[in-house]
Amino acid sequence: MAPALAGKVALVTGAGRGIGRAVALALAAEGAAVALAARTRADLAAVAAGIRDAGGRALAVPADVTQDPEVDALVEQVTAELGRLDILVTAAGTAAFGPFADSKGAAWEAMLAVNLRAVMTCCRAVLPAMLRQGNGTILTIASIAAKRALPGSAVYTATKAGVVGFSRVLAEELRAHGVRVGVLVPGAVDTPLWDALGSTPPRELMLRPEDVARAAVLMASLPPHASLEELTLLPAGGIL
Ligand SMILES: NC(=O)c1ccc[n+]([C@@H]2O[C@H](COP(=O)([O-])OP(=O)(O)OC[C@H]3O[C@@H](n4cnc5c(N)ncnc54)[C@H](OP(=O)(O)O)[C@@H]3O)[C@@H](O)[C@H]2O)c1
Repeated sequence: MAPALAGKVALVTGAGRGIGRAVALALAAEGAAVALAARTRADLAAVAAGIRDAGGRALAVPADVTQDPEVDALVEQVTAELGRLDILVTAAGTAAFGPFADSKGAAWEAMLAVNLRAVMTCCRAVLPAMLRQGNGTILTIASIAAKRALPGSAVYTATKAGVVGFSRVLAEELRAHGVRVGVLVPGAVDTPLWDALGSTPPRELMLRPEDVARAAVLMASLPPHASLEELTLLPAGGIL
């Protein structure tokens, strides 16, 4: 049997580390040609090499998703070199936690720019190709923070609740055009995101990036008549 995503082309942002890296590897393992975007070239090169070593097809495109012209150029390069664009996964993200009273505007802006605005930019950039094809799958990555009130995460939560709302409306707008939009809502995942965050929940209890990747593959590989629109994936221990 052919792999589930044979012949498909995917673009994964934040593909250099953590969840995006795992999603890129998993989509490639299912037969998709995968374009990898993030700012750090060395990370992308390593992920691309891993995909190629396993017999897959990868295209590494260094890009800052907060820069609109870079996003447009990224999508142009992907469609030019890989021929089409079937799947977008927006996994680029950043987090800073702490009491809101102590928070700084620069940190708000960084989170809003990557976690929310860039999701919109990337979705808009892929739509011409997906609408032309009459099909496509967009997966955004929110967080359980969007659903539960976790003290210390007010601004991060605002960006992720924004992603949930944005994804729900986009799903309705695109339904008639054959493009499905799903939002993944993970609890804590053991990724480098936590390295700079000081005290963390027990990392051994967290989800692994590969768990989130399995959910993304499921959402992307369902037949066109089925659309998994929102999927909450928690560590078995719950909110850590
Ligand atoms: N880890 C968790 O517990 C968890 C739980 C729920 C949801 N999430 C969400 O899942 C997503 C991925 O998180 P993660 O834990 O995998 O984080 P991570 O390990 O820190 O990886 C983040 C990735 O995003 C890229 N990135 C950051 N800013 C970017 C920018 N401006 N342009 C392009 N790429 C950028 C990073 O690469 P460069 O720095 O090289 O650009 C990196 O490849 C985030 O949206 C996060 O909020 C994470």
